[in-house]
Amino acid sequence: MKTQIFSTAEIDQAASALAKGELVAFPTETVYGLGADALNEAAVKKVYAAKGRPSDNPLIVHVADIETVKRLVEPLSEGAQQLMATFWPGSLTMIFNLKPNVLSKTVTGGLTTAAFRFPANETTLALIKTFGHPIVGPSANTSGKPSPTTAQHVYHDLHGKIAGILDDGATKVGVESTVLDMSTSQPAILRPGAVTAAQIEAVIHTPVATEVHQVGIKETPKAPGMKYKHYAPAAQVEIVNDEDWSAALKWAKKQSSKVGVMATTGRLTDLTLPSNVEVFSLGKDVTSASHLLFAGLRHFDDEPTIHYILAEGFTPKNLGLAYMNRLKKSAGNVFFEP
Ligand code: TXA
Ligand code: MG
Repeated sequence: MKTQIFSTAEIDQAASALAKGELVAFPTETVYGLGADALNEAAVKKVYAAKGRPSDNPLIVHVADIETVKRLVEPLSEGAQQLMATFWPGSLTMIFNLKPNVLSKTVTGGLTTAAFRFPANETTLALIKTFGHPIVGPSANTSGKPSPTTAQHVYHDLHGKIAGILDDGATKVGVESTVLDMSTSQPAILRPGAVTAAQIEAVIHTPVATEVHQVGIKETPKAPGMKYKHYAPAAQVEIVNDEDWSAALKWAKKQSSKVGVMATTGRLTDLTLPSNVEVFSLGKDVTSASHLLFAGLRHFDDEPTIHYILAEGFTPKNLGLAYMNRLKKSAGNVFFEP
Protein backbone atom coordinates (compact mmCIF):
# COMPACT_ATOMS: atom_id res chain seq x y z
CA MET A 1 0.00 0.00 0.00
CA LYS A 2 1.27 3.45 -0.90
CA THR A 3 0.97 5.84 2.03
CA GLN A 4 -0.29 9.26 0.93
CA ILE A 5 0.64 12.48 2.66
CA PHE A 6 -2.44 14.72 2.89
CA SER A 7 -2.04 18.46 3.38
CA THR A 8 -4.37 20.32 5.75
CA ALA A 9 -6.33 21.36 2.63
CA GLU A 10 -7.03 17.70 1.81
CA ILE A 11 -9.43 16.88 4.65
CA ASP A 12 -12.01 15.45 2.20
CA GLN A 13 -9.53 12.94 0.78
CA ALA A 14 -8.47 11.87 4.28
CA ALA A 15 -12.13 11.53 5.36
CA SER A 16 -12.99 9.39 2.34
CA ALA A 17 -10.10 7.04 3.12
CA LEU A 18 -11.55 6.64 6.64
CA ALA A 19 -14.99 6.01 5.13
CA LYS A 20 -13.49 3.15 3.09
CA GLY A 21 -12.31 1.53 6.34
CA GLU A 22 -8.71 2.59 5.79
CA LEU A 23 -6.22 4.01 8.29
CA VAL A 24 -5.22 7.68 8.30
CA ALA A 25 -2.78 9.13 10.82
CA PHE A 26 -3.89 12.50 12.18
CA PRO A 27 -2.26 15.37 14.08
CA THR A 28 -3.22 16.39 17.61
CA GLU A 29 -1.65 18.90 20.00
CA THR A 30 0.07 16.02 21.88
CA VAL A 31 1.30 13.41 19.37
CA TYR A 32 0.07 12.01 16.04
CA GLY A 33 -2.69 9.41 16.29
CA LEU A 34 -3.52 6.45 14.05
CA GLY A 35 -7.10 7.00 12.94
CA ALA A 36 -9.80 4.53 11.98
CA ASP A 37 -13.60 4.63 12.07
CA ALA A 38 -14.44 3.80 15.71
CA LEU A 39 -17.75 2.25 14.57
CA ASN A 40 -16.17 -0.08 11.98
CA GLU A 41 -14.65 -3.08 13.77
CA ALA A 42 -12.76 -4.34 10.72
CA ALA A 43 -11.09 -0.94 10.36
CA VAL A 44 -10.21 -0.83 14.07
CA LYS A 45 -8.61 -4.28 13.81
CA LYS A 46 -6.24 -2.89 11.19
CA VAL A 47 -4.96 -0.38 13.75
CA TYR A 48 -3.68 -3.17 16.01
CA ALA A 49 -2.10 -4.95 13.04
CA ALA A 50 -0.34 -1.83 11.69
CA LYS A 51 1.11 -0.91 15.10
CA GLY A 52 1.83 -4.46 16.27
CA ARG A 53 -0.23 -3.57 19.32
CA PRO A 54 -1.41 -6.24 21.81
CA SER A 55 -5.17 -6.70 21.43
CA ASP A 56 -5.94 -6.20 25.14
CA ASN A 57 -4.76 -2.58 25.01
CA PRO A 58 -7.84 -0.42 24.37
CA LEU A 59 -7.95 2.65 22.12
CA ILE A 60 -8.93 6.25 22.79
CA VAL A 61 -12.05 7.43 20.95
CA HIS A 62 -11.52 10.92 19.49
CA VAL A 63 -14.51 13.22 19.10
CA ALA A 64 -15.16 16.73 17.82
CA ASP A 65 -18.12 17.46 20.11
CA ILE A 66 -19.41 16.51 23.55
CA GLU A 67 -22.78 15.24 22.24
CA THR A 68 -21.10 12.21 20.65
CA VAL A 69 -19.70 11.20 24.05
CA LYS A 70 -23.10 11.64 25.70
CA ARG A 71 -24.68 9.27 23.16
CA LEU A 72 -22.20 6.49 24.01
CA VAL A 73 -21.73 6.69 27.78
CA GLU A 74 -23.78 6.45 30.99
CA PRO A 75 -25.03 9.85 32.19
CA LEU A 76 -22.10 12.17 32.89
CA SER A 77 -21.43 13.41 36.42
CA GLU A 78 -21.41 17.12 37.18
CA GLY A 79 -17.62 16.87 37.63
CA ALA A 80 -17.12 15.24 34.24
CA GLN A 81 -19.12 17.98 32.55
CA GLN A 82 -17.11 20.68 34.32
CA LEU A 83 -13.87 19.02 33.23
CA MET A 84 -15.08 18.92 29.62
CA ALA A 85 -16.08 22.56 29.78
CA THR A 86 -12.66 23.50 31.18
CA PHE A 87 -10.20 21.29 29.31
CA TRP A 88 -11.85 20.30 26.01
CA PRO A 89 -10.61 20.66 23.36
CA GLY A 90 -7.31 19.78 25.02
CA SER A 91 -4.94 17.19 26.49
CA LEU A 92 -7.29 15.48 28.93
CA THR A 93 -8.58 12.00 28.05
CA MET A 94 -11.41 10.75 30.25
CA ILE A 95 -12.60 7.19 30.82
CA PHE A 96 -16.33 6.65 31.25
CA ASN A 97 -18.69 3.69 31.68
CA LEU A 98 -20.25 2.81 28.34
CA LYS A 99 -23.86 2.10 27.53
CA PRO A 100 -24.17 -1.59 26.56
CA ASN A 101 -23.11 -2.62 23.04
CA VAL A 102 -22.21 0.82 21.68
CA LEU A 103 -18.56 0.10 20.85
CA SER A 104 -16.89 -3.10 19.73
CA LYS A 105 -14.60 -5.14 21.99
CA THR A 106 -11.84 -4.30 19.57
CA VAL A 107 -12.05 -0.67 20.64
CA THR A 108 -12.47 -1.33 24.38
CA GLY A 109 -10.15 -4.32 24.75
CA GLY A 110 -13.18 -6.09 26.28
CA LEU A 111 -13.67 -3.48 29.05
CA THR A 112 -17.06 -1.93 29.88
CA THR A 113 -15.43 1.52 29.77
CA ALA A 114 -13.86 3.61 27.03
CA ALA A 115 -11.46 6.52 26.90
CA PHE A 116 -12.58 9.74 25.16
CA ARG A 117 -10.57 12.66 23.92
CA PHE A 118 -11.43 15.96 22.19
CA PRO A 119 -8.08 17.00 20.71
CA ALA A 120 -7.05 20.64 20.30
CA ASN A 121 -6.16 20.54 16.61
CA GLU A 122 -8.35 22.33 14.08
CA THR A 123 -7.37 20.07 11.19
CA THR A 124 -8.29 16.91 13.04
CA LEU A 125 -11.52 18.37 14.40
CA ALA A 126 -12.43 19.25 10.79
CA LEU A 127 -11.52 15.70 9.74
CA ILE A 128 -13.78 14.14 12.39
CA LYS A 129 -16.64 16.51 11.50
CA THR A 130 -16.29 15.89 7.77
CA PHE A 131 -16.09 12.14 8.33
CA GLY A 132 -19.07 12.20 10.67
CA HIS A 133 -18.05 9.42 13.09
CA PRO A 134 -15.69 9.34 16.05
CA ILE A 135 -12.26 7.91 15.25
CA VAL A 136 -10.02 5.69 17.37
CA GLY A 137 -6.53 6.98 17.79
CA PRO A 138 -3.66 5.32 19.55
CA SER A 139 -0.34 7.06 19.03
CA ALA A 140 0.74 6.44 15.41
CA ASN A 141 4.01 4.66 16.20
CA THR A 142 5.09 1.04 16.01
CA SER A 143 4.15 -0.42 19.41
CA GLY A 144 7.03 0.06 21.89
CA LYS A 145 8.68 2.93 20.00
CA PRO A 146 8.53 6.63 20.96
CA SER A 147 5.25 8.31 19.99
CA PRO A 148 5.38 10.36 16.76
CA THR A 149 5.44 14.13 16.98
CA THR A 150 5.82 14.77 13.24
CA ALA A 151 4.29 13.28 10.09
CA GLN A 152 7.82 12.07 9.19
CA HIS A 153 7.95 9.99 12.40
CA VAL A 154 4.66 8.37 11.42
CA TYR A 155 5.93 7.73 7.89
CA HIS A 156 9.10 6.15 9.29
CA ASP A 157 7.15 3.63 11.37
CA LEU A 158 4.03 2.95 9.31
CA HIS A 159 4.55 3.73 5.62
CA GLY A 160 3.22 0.95 3.44
CA LYS A 161 0.89 -0.14 6.25
CA ILE A 162 -1.57 2.78 6.28
CA ALA A 163 -3.49 4.71 3.61
CA GLY A 164 -2.40 8.20 4.58
CA ILE A 165 -1.02 10.78 6.98
CA LEU A 166 -2.63 14.18 7.50
CA ASP A 167 0.40 16.45 7.89
CA ASP A 168 0.02 19.47 10.17
CA GLY A 169 3.66 19.90 11.16
CA ALA A 170 5.18 19.19 14.55
CA THR A 171 2.81 18.72 17.49
CA LYS A 172 2.88 21.34 20.25
CA VAL A 173 2.92 19.47 23.55
CA GLY A 174 4.95 16.40 22.56
CA VAL A 175 3.82 13.99 25.31
CA GLU A 176 0.50 12.16 25.20
CA SER A 177 -2.64 13.36 26.97
CA THR A 178 -3.39 12.93 30.65
CA VAL A 179 -5.59 9.83 31.07
CA LEU A 180 -8.14 10.33 33.86
CA ASP A 181 -10.36 7.47 34.96
CA MET A 182 -13.81 8.90 35.67
CA SER A 183 -15.53 5.48 35.74
CA THR A 184 -14.87 4.85 39.44
CA SER A 185 -15.94 6.74 42.59
CA GLN A 186 -12.56 8.43 42.99
CA PRO A 187 -11.11 9.94 39.80
CA ALA A 188 -7.61 8.58 39.12
CA ILE A 189 -4.85 9.66 36.76
CA LEU A 190 -3.67 6.57 34.91
CA ARG A 191 -1.14 8.44 32.76
CA PRO A 192 0.28 11.90 33.56
CA GLY A 193 0.17 14.52 30.81
CA ALA A 194 0.01 18.27 30.32
CA VAL A 195 -3.21 18.59 32.36
CA THR A 196 -2.14 18.09 35.98
CA ALA A 197 -3.87 16.60 39.04
CA ALA A 198 -3.85 20.02 40.70
CA GLN A 199 -5.61 21.59 37.69
CA ILE A 200 -8.25 18.84 37.73
CA GLU A 201 -8.77 19.12 41.51
CA ALA A 202 -9.24 22.88 41.18
CA VAL A 203 -12.23 22.19 38.90
CA ILE A 204 -13.95 19.25 40.61
CA HIS A 205 -12.98 19.99 44.24
CA THR A 206 -12.35 16.29 44.94
CA PRO A 207 -8.98 14.58 45.44
CA VAL A 208 -7.59 12.80 42.39
CA ALA A 209 -5.58 9.59 42.84
CA THR A 210 -2.17 9.79 41.18
CA GLU A 211 -0.22 6.88 42.65
CA VAL A 212 -1.12 4.39 39.99
CA HIS A 213 0.24 0.93 40.70
CA GLN A 214 2.77 -0.09 38.04
CA VAL A 215 1.85 -3.61 37.05
CA GLY A 216 3.81 -6.58 35.74
CA ILE A 217 3.31 -8.21 32.35
CA LYS A 218 0.98 -10.96 33.72
CA GLU A 219 -1.34 -8.65 35.65
CA THR A 220 -4.34 -6.78 34.31
CA PRO A 221 -3.61 -3.11 34.89
CA LYS A 222 -6.12 -0.27 35.08
CA ALA A 223 -4.72 1.22 31.87
CA PRO A 224 -3.64 -1.86 29.94
CA GLY A 225 -1.00 0.10 28.04
CA MET A 226 0.99 0.58 31.23
CA LYS A 227 2.37 -2.95 31.38
CA TYR A 228 4.14 -2.82 28.05
CA LYS A 229 7.63 -1.56 27.33
CA HIS A 230 7.42 1.92 25.88
CA TYR A 231 9.30 4.65 24.11
CA ALA A 232 12.40 2.48 23.89
CA PRO A 233 15.09 3.30 21.34
CA ALA A 234 17.70 0.64 20.54
CA ALA A 235 20.34 2.42 22.68
CA GLN A 236 20.35 2.33 26.48
CA VAL A 237 18.97 5.58 27.84
CA GLU A 238 20.34 6.82 31.19
CA ILE A 239 18.69 9.71 33.03
CA VAL A 240 21.14 12.24 34.42
CA ASN A 241 20.30 14.23 37.55
CA ASP A 242 21.49 17.86 37.73
CA GLU A 243 24.48 17.16 40.00
CA ASP A 244 25.77 14.21 37.96
CA TRP A 245 26.43 15.84 34.56
CA SER A 246 30.20 16.32 34.96
CA ALA A 247 30.65 12.71 36.05
CA ALA A 248 28.38 11.52 33.25
CA LEU A 249 30.44 13.34 30.61
CA LYS A 250 33.70 12.00 32.09
CA TRP A 251 32.24 8.55 31.73
CA ALA A 252 31.09 9.34 28.17
CA LYS A 253 34.62 10.44 27.19
CA LYS A 254 35.96 6.99 28.10
CA GLN A 255 33.52 5.17 25.83
CA SER A 256 34.96 3.78 22.61
CA SER A 257 31.88 4.75 20.59
CA LYS A 258 29.76 7.90 20.27
CA VAL A 259 27.42 8.80 23.14
CA GLY A 260 24.17 10.71 22.62
CA VAL A 261 23.34 13.60 24.93
CA MET A 262 19.86 15.12 25.23
CA ALA A 263 19.88 18.24 27.37
CA THR A 264 18.63 21.82 27.57
CA THR A 265 20.60 24.65 25.96
CA GLY A 266 21.51 26.19 29.33
CA ARG A 267 23.02 22.94 30.52
CA LEU A 268 24.86 22.37 27.23
CA THR A 269 26.59 25.76 27.37
CA ASP A 270 27.66 25.14 30.98
CA LEU A 271 29.39 21.85 30.20
CA THR A 272 32.56 20.89 28.38
CA LEU A 273 31.52 18.25 25.90
CA PRO A 274 33.97 15.50 24.89
CA SER A 275 34.43 15.05 21.13
CA ASN A 276 32.71 11.66 21.01
CA VAL A 277 29.46 13.16 22.26
CA GLU A 278 26.62 13.94 19.84
CA VAL A 279 24.15 16.48 21.13
CA PHE A 280 20.39 16.77 20.64
CA SER A 281 19.18 20.00 22.23
CA LEU A 282 15.99 19.89 24.28
CA GLY A 283 15.52 23.65 24.03
CA LYS A 284 15.31 25.94 27.01
CA ASP A 285 13.06 24.30 29.61
CA VAL A 286 10.73 21.45 30.54
CA THR A 287 8.11 22.63 28.02
CA SER A 288 10.49 22.52 25.06
CA ALA A 289 12.05 19.33 26.45
CA SER A 290 8.64 17.61 26.46
CA HIS A 291 7.99 18.90 22.93
CA LEU A 292 11.33 17.45 21.72
CA LEU A 293 11.77 14.32 23.87
CA PHE A 294 10.41 11.75 21.41
CA ALA A 295 12.10 13.43 18.44
CA GLY A 296 15.43 13.17 20.30
CA LEU A 297 14.97 9.50 21.13
CA ARG A 298 14.08 8.83 17.50
CA HIS A 299 17.04 10.88 16.24
CA PHE A 300 19.49 8.64 18.08
CA ASP A 301 17.53 5.51 17.23
CA ASP A 302 18.48 6.05 13.59
CA GLU A 303 22.18 5.94 14.50
CA PRO A 304 23.33 2.37 15.09
CA THR A 305 26.76 3.48 16.38
CA ILE A 306 25.18 5.07 19.46
CA HIS A 307 24.84 2.60 22.31
CA TYR A 308 24.15 5.06 25.13
CA ILE A 309 21.99 8.17 25.42
CA LEU A 310 22.39 10.48 28.42
CA ALA A 311 19.16 12.43 28.94
CA GLU A 312 18.37 15.33 31.24
CA GLY A 313 16.10 14.65 34.22
CA PHE A 314 13.57 17.21 35.47
CA THR A 315 11.72 17.61 38.77
CA PRO A 316 8.67 15.35 38.44
CA LYS A 317 6.13 18.13 38.95
CA ASN A 318 3.46 19.49 36.57
CA LEU A 319 4.63 18.87 32.97
CA GLY A 320 7.89 17.50 34.45
CA LEU A 321 5.87 14.55 35.80
CA ALA A 322 4.68 13.61 32.30
CA TYR A 323 8.18 14.13 30.85
CA MET A 324 9.80 11.95 33.54
CA ASN A 325 7.10 9.27 33.19
CA ARG A 326 7.98 8.87 29.48
CA LEU A 327 11.73 9.24 29.95
CA LYS A 328 11.83 6.66 32.77
CA LYS A 329 10.01 4.16 30.55
CA SER A 330 12.42 4.76 27.69
CA ALA A 331 15.34 4.30 30.13
CA GLY A 332 13.85 1.23 31.81
CA ASN A 333 14.13 3.42 34.94
CA VAL A 334 17.95 3.57 34.71
CA PHE A 335 19.62 6.69 36.15
CA PHE A 336 23.29 7.48 35.53
CA GLU A 337 25.22 6.60 38.68
CA PRO A 338 28.62 8.22 39.13
O1 TXA B 1 -2.39 12.16 23.45
C1 TXA B 1 -2.94 11.06 23.28
O2 TXA B 1 -3.69 10.55 24.14
C2 TXA B 1 -2.67 10.32 21.97
C3 TXA B 1 -3.25 11.13 20.82
C4 TXA B 1 -3.11 10.42 19.50
O3 TXA B 1 -4.57 11.46 21.09
N1 TXA B 1 -3.18 8.98 22.01
C5 TXA B 1 -2.61 8.00 22.77
O4 TXA B 1 -3.21 6.74 22.66
O5 TXA B 1 -1.65 8.18 23.48
P1 TXA B 1 -2.52 5.39 23.14
O6 TXA B 1 -3.41 4.32 22.66
O7 TXA B 1 -1.12 5.35 22.68
O8 TXA B 1 -2.60 5.46 24.71
C6 TXA B 1 -3.85 5.32 25.36
C7 TXA B 1 -3.67 4.83 26.77
C8 TXA B 1 -3.16 3.41 26.82
O9 TXA B 1 -2.24 3.29 27.90
C9 TXA B 1 -4.43 2.61 27.09
O10 TXA B 1 -4.15 1.40 27.77
C10 TXA B 1 -5.24 3.56 27.94
O11 TXA B 1 -4.96 4.84 27.40
N2 TXA B 1 -6.69 3.30 27.82
C11 TXA B 1 -7.47 3.39 26.73
N3 TXA B 1 -8.74 3.04 27.01
C12 TXA B 1 -8.78 2.71 28.32
C13 TXA B 1 -9.79 2.25 29.21
N4 TXA B 1 -11.05 2.05 28.82
N5 TXA B 1 -9.43 2.01 30.49
C14 TXA B 1 -8.16 2.21 30.91
N6 TXA B 1 -7.17 2.63 30.12
C15 TXA B 1 -7.45 2.87 28.84
MG1 MG C 1 0.88 4.96 22.58
